[in-house]
Amino acid sequence: MSYPKIVVVPPGPKAKGVVGRDDAIISPSFGRAYPLVISSAEGCIITDVDGNKYIDMNAGLACMNVGHNHPKVVAAIKAQADRFLHYSYTDFYYENVVDLSETLETIVPGDFKKKFFYGNSGAEANEAAIKLSRWHTRRQGVIAYIGSFHGRTMGAVSLTASKPAQRRYFAPFVPGVEHVPYPYCYRCPFNLECPDCGYYCVDYINEYLFRKYVPPEDVAVVVAEAVQGEGGYIPAPKGYFKELKKLLDQHGILLSLDEVQSGMGRTGKWFAIEHYGVAPDIVCIAKAIASGLPLGVCASRADIMDWTPGSHASTFGGNPVSCAAAKAVVQAMKEERMLENAERQGNHIMKRLKEMMEEHPLIGDVRGLGLMVGIELVRDRETKEPAAKEAEDVMMRCFRKGVALVTCGVSTIRLMPPLIISRDLVDRSLEILDGCLGEVEAENR
Ligand SMILES: Cc1ncc(COP(=O)(O)O)c(C=O)c1O
Repeated sequence: MSYPKIVVVPPGPKAKGVVGRDDAIISPSFGRAYPLVISSAEGCIITDVDGNKYIDMNAGLACMNVGHNHPKVVAAIKAQADRFLHYSYTDFYYENVVDLSETLETIVPGDFKKKFFYGNSGAEANEAAIKLSRWHTRRQGVIAYIGSFHGRTMGAVSLTASKPAQRRYFAPFVPGVEHVPYPYCYRCPFNLECPDCGYYCVDYINEYLFRKYVPPEDVAVVVAEAVQGEGGYIPAPKGYFKELKKLLDQHGILLSLDEVQSGMGRTGKWFAIEHYGVAPDIVCIAKAIASGLPLGVCASRADIMDWTPGSHASTFGGNPVSCAAAKAVVQAMKEERMLENAERQGNHIMKRLKEMMEEHPLIGDVRGLGLMVGIELVRDRETKEPAAKEAEDVMMRCFRKGVALVTCGVSTIRLMPPLIISRDLVDRSLEILDGCLGEVEAENR
């Protein structure tokens, strides 16, 4: 069968029925992109309740890196479910959390011993990173980035700064957090050009924070995304993290990398920070690690994870079924060389998008690493006025034609398919995206 296959323009009658019932009973805080109502999924294809089949360029929001319902992952989940479902790892022991940690120790960057804390989500992994940094350093300050997304719990949302809606009416936030500009080179906050700027965005932290109002000896940690995700799929420039780490090391400040979206092979390496040649002190992992089952991991240098019993824990953290899934995910990624495919297909996407840029004035910038690709739309390439409405319009048209993708930042379309995606499905998706961009341009001419 060739994909996508649209049998009724979505949302079809069954999808409308579910959405109507959802409206009446589910929290309106969920910000749905479009009325896609899933009934089943396999590999890179999702099927909705009306029988439409879509190419999944979302990977269930960067979670299904090994593809939907990978047979080895499903088998591992079933086998563990037959043994036992839960036994509060924070109070007792079972083996597969230790197994998983020993495996993760070999892939988390850093040539040193590591220790692992387990929670249930990306936000919880970041909560653990914040608390661990404060505990270990006995310092209060946390530095995060404008445009960042680290989750919605009170600690994580205090760092999050990618959309006002995420923070509106929730103040006061956790004290001690300062935000600094992210190295968003397409829209440099300092109007400079990289690398001629000499990474002024790092100097800024020194000159304007440390020398004026944030004593560096009060700062526990800098929390960063190597590729800003929700903020717009923005990879930091090549030398950024080396410069940053130099500054942080001078002051004994920890570096925590939020790899919740960029990790588990998405960028063609296990973790995006590996593209920068820097070993962070802490790495936070969630989303794709357990292929859709809840699992959040805070990994750190072993010497940092020195907090004492009772200081931090979570009943469900390290759930045995999630850990079984995670072990199978790592194994499947290695056996099926998924990181290599992510790099190969990512390079192909980038090449095609650069060609498309010549035909579509709406495309202002294309950027990314591996299969974490952003296409920023602008109304005018000179002024770079964001084309937010147009990006939504392109997304909706792609949905109706059978390509599920979403936006991020203000006007960026993101591509984050499963890492197993084939060249055929990539090309078909880009062909449909190409057509939708053309339609939106024609309508706005
Ligand atoms: C970089 C990053 N950190 C943290 C989170 C929060 O993860 P969760 O929704 O599992 O709490 C997300 C979710 O999108 C994310 O992209």
